[in-house]
This record gives sequence, C-alpha cells and structure tokens, in this order.
Amino acid sequence: AMNTFVSNLMKKMTLDEKIGQLNLVTPGGGVATGAVVSSDVESKIKAGSVGGLFGVIGVDKIRQAQDLAMNHSRLKIPLIFGSDIIHGYKTTFPIPLALACSWDTALIERSARIAAIEASADGLNWAFSPMVDIARDPRWGRVAEGSGEDPYLGSKIAKAMVRGYQGNDLAATNTLMACVKHFALYGAAEAGRDYNTVDMSLIKMYEYYLPPYKAAIDAGVGSVMSSFNDINGIPATGNRWLLTDLLRKQWGFDGFVVSDYTSVNEMIDHGMGDLQAVSALALKAGLDMDMVGEGFLTTLKKSLKEGKVTQQEIDLACKRILEAKYKLGLFEDPFRYLNHDRATKEVLSPDKRVAGREFAQHSMVLLKNEGQVLPLKKSGTIALVGALANNKSNMLGTWAVSGDAQLSTPILDGFKSVAGNAATILYARGANITDDSALAKKANVFGEKVDIDPRSPQELINEAVATAGRADVVVAVVGEASELSGESASRSDITLPASQLELLKALKKTGKPLVVVVMSGRPLALNWEAANANALLQGWFGGHEFGPALADVLFGNYNPSGKLTMTFPRNVGQVPIYYNHKTTGRPQQGKEFQKFRSNYLDVSNDPLYPFGYGLSYTTFSYSDIKLSSKEMTAAQSIRATVTVTNTGNYDGEEVVQFYIYDQVASVTQPVKKLKGFQKIALKKGESKVVSFTITAEELKFFNTALKWIAEPGEFKVYIGTSSSDVKVASFRLK
Ligand code: IFM
Repeated sequence: AMNTFVSNLMKKMTLDEKIGQLNLVTPGGGVATGAVVSSDVESKIKAGSVGGLFGVIGVDKIRQAQDLAMNHSRLKIPLIFGSDIIHGYKTTFPIPLALACSWDTALIERSARIAAIEASADGLNWAFSPMVDIARDPRWGRVAEGSGEDPYLGSKIAKAMVRGYQGNDLAATNTLMACVKHFALYGAAEAGRDYNTVDMSLIKMYEYYLPPYKAAIDAGVGSVMSSFNDINGIPATGNRWLLTDLLRKQWGFDGFVVSDYTSVNEMIDHGMGDLQAVSALALKAGLDMDMVGEGFLTTLKKSLKEGKVTQQEIDLACKRILEAKYKLGLFEDPFRYLNHDRATKEVLSPDKRVAGREFAQHSMVLLKNEGQVLPLKKSGTIALVGALANNKSNMLGTWAVSGDAQLSTPILDGFKSVAGNAATILYARGANITDDSALAKKANVFGEKVDIDPRSPQELINEAVATAGRADVVVAVVGEASELSGESASRSDITLPASQLELLKALKKTGKPLVVVVMSGRPLALNWEAANANALLQGWFGGHEFGPALADVLFGNYNPSGKLTMTFPRNVGQVPIYYNHKTTGRPQQGKEFQKFRSNYLDVSNDPLYPFGYGLSYTTFSYSDIKLSSKEMTAAQSIRATVTVTNTGNYDGEEVVQFYIYDQVASVTQPVKKLKGFQKIALKKGESKVVSFTITAEELKFFNTALKWIAEPGEFKVYIGTSSSDVKVASFRLK
C-alpha cells in the first residue's frame, strides 16, 4: 500500500516539489541549534519547498506550520516535525553518558519511551536521537551525549533507545521516529576537537566504532543523521561508501538519511567544491534530506539540467522521505500528533519527574568511599558547599533544548527535603564555578549558566571554611558548568576549574570528613580529588530531579549502582585511554616505568578509574569462574558461571561484567572485550549464581578481509566487578 501511495503521489509532483521534500528548515525564534537559521519559512512551505521543520515547539506552533502545508500548498503534503529530544523532552533526564552508567537497558528504554510520549503529545514526531558515537577522548565535549567507549554496551543501549522512541508502531501517536547519529565516527575526532578529521582503519571502524549504528539499524531505526567529520578523506555527508555501500547495501537500511546542520554546505570548507558541487556529491552519496543549508533546494535543479545528478537520484531521496511520513501516519491524518488534551496531560506531568529522579539515582557512580563516610546520617550538621549545589541553571547538561532549567530542583532543596528535620543543612557557595571570565563567557553562550559572585575568591573560601567548621561533615559539589561540555565545548584541560580546586583544598584543611560530588559532562582528571576526598561521587548532569536524586544517594535512600562507561584518565596526556586496548609488542609488565617498554616516564599506564568501575555502599565478592567445559567447537558453547555474594551491610545492585580475550589471532586483539553483563539485585548476605554463555559469536572479530570470524585457539574469559577487577578462566576453541 505504501509503495502504491507514494508512487502515485510522486507522479503528481513537479521537480521543484520533489526537491522541496528534501529540504529541512528551522525557522529560528524557537530553538536554533546551529549558526544560521532558515529564512522565509512560511512562503517556502506554501510553495512546497519544505519537507520538514525542526526547532518549532508546541502544539499551536506546529499546527500553524502544518496548516500552511495542508491548506496553502498545492499538493498538501504534510511536514515532518523533528527536534533534539536527547535525554528527555521538556522533562529532562540525566545526560546520556550518565544514563549509560546505569547499565540498565530497560531503564534507558523507558527514558526514551517517556520522552517519546511527552514529545509526541506536544506535536513532534521525529527525535534526533540516539547519539551512539563511540568516544575514547574526554576532551571532546560531545561525549556527554553518547554511551561511552564500548561497542557492545553502546549497541545494547542504541537498540534500547530506538525501541523506546519508536515502540513497535511508528504510526501510533505516542511514538517518535528515531534518528541514529552521527553517522559516522564523529566520536573519533582528532585530538577531541569538535568537527575534526577522522582517519581510521576499516578494522578499527568495524570492530569498535560501527557496531552501535548497526545495532540501531537492526532495531529498525527510521532515519540516520550524517556526521560533520571527514572519514579517510571524504566528508561523511558526501561519502558514498558510507551512506550507500555500507549503510544500505551491506546493512540493508531502508529509511532516510538527513544531513547534520549545514553539513552539506560545510563540504565547501572541507575543500570539496562549491555549493552546487557539494550538494550533488551529497545526493549521489545517498543523502536524502538537507538540514538548513538549502544546497539541495538551490542547486539540484541546475545540476539535473547539467547532468550532474539524475532524476532517479532525486526521486529516490524524495521517495524515502515520503515513505517516512507515510510510516508516521501523516498522510492519513497530518494533525494526528496535535492534540491539546494530550499535551496538557503529558507535558511535564508529575510521573515523569518521578521517573527522572529514579533515572538520576541509577546514573551516579560512587568512585571512593573511605571509612564508609557515605551514606550520610540524617542527623547532625552538614555543610553543603559549592556554586553548583544551589543552582538551577546547570542541572540539565548539554542538549536539553526544550528543558527549562529553572524547573530544576536545586541540590540544597533536595537535601533539605530528603534529610528531614533531624539534620541541619548549612550552605556556602565557596567558589565561583570558574573565576576565568573568558571561560565563563564561553559557557554562557547559551544563557547565564555561570554567574560570577563579586566577592573575592578568598572571601568565598573563608565563608565556606567557617561553615564547614560548624558542621560534622562537608559535602562539596564541584564540576563544570553545563555548557562546558556538549557540542563545540572541547577542553584541552580536563581538570576541575582552579577556583573550585582551591576551595576543596581549603575544605580539606578543616579536617572535616570531605564528600566530593562531581557534576560534569565528561570524565575529568580528578587526581587531587581522588587522593584527598573521603568520598567521591560522579553525579554528572542529572536533569530536573538531580537535587533530590543526589540526596537520595548520599543519604542512602538509594544505594549507588552505576559503573563508568568511559575511562577516567589521570591526566589529559593519557588520552585516548580505554579499556579495550591492544597489548603492543612491548607491554608493560609488573612494575611501572621500565626502559624500552610501552609506558610513560611521568604517569602510569593505568587510568584513575577504569571502564566498568563503580562502588556500592555494600560489598560484593565473586567466586572463581566455573566453566562447563574447557574446550568447544564453533558449533558448541561453554557456560561460564560465578557466584556473587553481597558481603556488606546494605542491600545493593551489582553489574556483573563478562569479558573475552582472544590470545592468538590473525589480527591483534584487545586485552579485553565486553561480551555480556547482568545487573543483579542482592539483599544483604544474599548470593546469586550468574552465568554467561560463550558461543563462537562471542569469540569473533573482523579479520583483514573484514569477515566476522572466530579462529581456533586459546581464550580467556573474565568475569568481575569492573574491567580491571575480574576472575579469570581459560578455554580453547577447537
Ligand atoms: O541533532 C543536532 C546534531 O546533533 C548537531 N547539529 C544540529 C542537529 C539538529 O539540532
């Protein structure tokens, strides 16, 4: 039915109307997310020169725009309405990197589902999410938007999010079409500088960077966004190998591909020719929709006349976009997502905030807890210190384009409500987020996120030290302003801003137990903090309900269960640093620096905190691994089993991680690859048996012919609590 409908419609369309469908615009005034905005949107819609809109928010505005298409354009083709729904919609959840640390794919799926319900009730039908770019470089600000460094976990999360947004019926009015991005390899931008070049071997792509995109395709994602970067000499947006050979021919993707914001035009600066040339290049590569830049709109007709593109190429792109609209049910009823009652019921409803609190609790990672300083008692006096601890502007993190930061519950309020009357909470600012006014100005591009207290740094510190003096324990909330990570927010120095480190040093000198909570959109280099804090908790940016959720965790209403999904380096010089690295021919063995070994003179090879790491208020012990057999053929399997026991004083949850090491192969293999995990809940004293099945699939890698194969030989299996704290067993593939 869809094919007939779309081909009949296309028979009626002029060339201009077909090219119009390929045009995605943002009118500005709402939420522009790039440097330029579209002009004359109203007249273009009437002329049939627009296929879709984004940055238009709310039922009324979307209805107005849809009305222009339905009642004033010749063919009355409905528009598709997109938005950056990245970690929640108006109700804002923790940043994706934080959600990933829950290792709870059901919870992550639910977060996407709730965002879809809320956004679709507000008139939208297309989400520019999930962002699945694997990243090994915390200098890159957009690590906040992805799931971290691991392809296996990243793939599971990609699938969960696509399912969450799309449900099993795209035409349902409470689902959204997802858009996996940024295709591809955007997370590998050289030196962590945004939009930078990527040059990568095919094996590295296939093995480490491509799996999450592929997983989203396999989960049926409706659309794909091309990335800004160049890949091995050809920008992704004009890369035919990427957008056609790999995506469509190898992977069988049948949805549509949209460019990133002006990424067609940006190929001029990449050095690929003028606007006409780069637009033709993109279309021929397999790009269907042009975001904001209007290269397609203004040049394709000319290129067709000059034989630089073909009618079939234009038709194919147009067809894919019409098919997406068909799948969304927009031809049946273009106004189907526009229902005030639903918007009133769903947008910012209390149940969504309750869910947001739960998501934030599950996203935090406990990095240190010396002498069980946590959980805090709900009694005595607590000094809560830090500009971020009593602030609404920095709770949401990057890419919360529809989230109103002022609806956030500050940490101080969360503390007061969770701790109750038996505890006294004192507050002092202690330091500005940064005293570097140039940095503050840059972080303020998207609004006043960094306010600078006019008092001198010493006055602020003195006040905090005096407050600490009156307390039994100090909780210092430090970190980045929310816009210090995200798009175009790369940093070459990933330490805490100096003003806040000085504050921590002064608080340490008081001798009071010091709990440090870090808010950031990336792994920071936290050496001093790790050495000197009594407890250290990575809180990330947790969304509207971060304040109460943080209090829940610190006061023990929720026992933290998050595990890092990106390695925390000791310093920026170790970057890129990731757990699934190769051994090299001169691996460091035993002690730290050794001449003529692969190591540094001035820092260890080990990260500060490894992938998979995260503590609980309780402790877990692991038995040795039992294997059901010591060898297997490719057709057989082995079961690897451990018993995990909660040996501490609290009920808790543990992420049991399962890794494989292929010791000899025709392509050098990493020391570990995550191949499974289970998040289990264990009551105090309880034990559970956890097993993982090893089949040939878990043993495969991409060889030099890019075949996904398993080679016979010796393997190790690791099961444990983090990538660096595991039990080991060996087996053989015959
Ligand atoms: O979806 C985003 C993308 O991640 C970065 N550039 C702009 C797009 C639309 O806002």
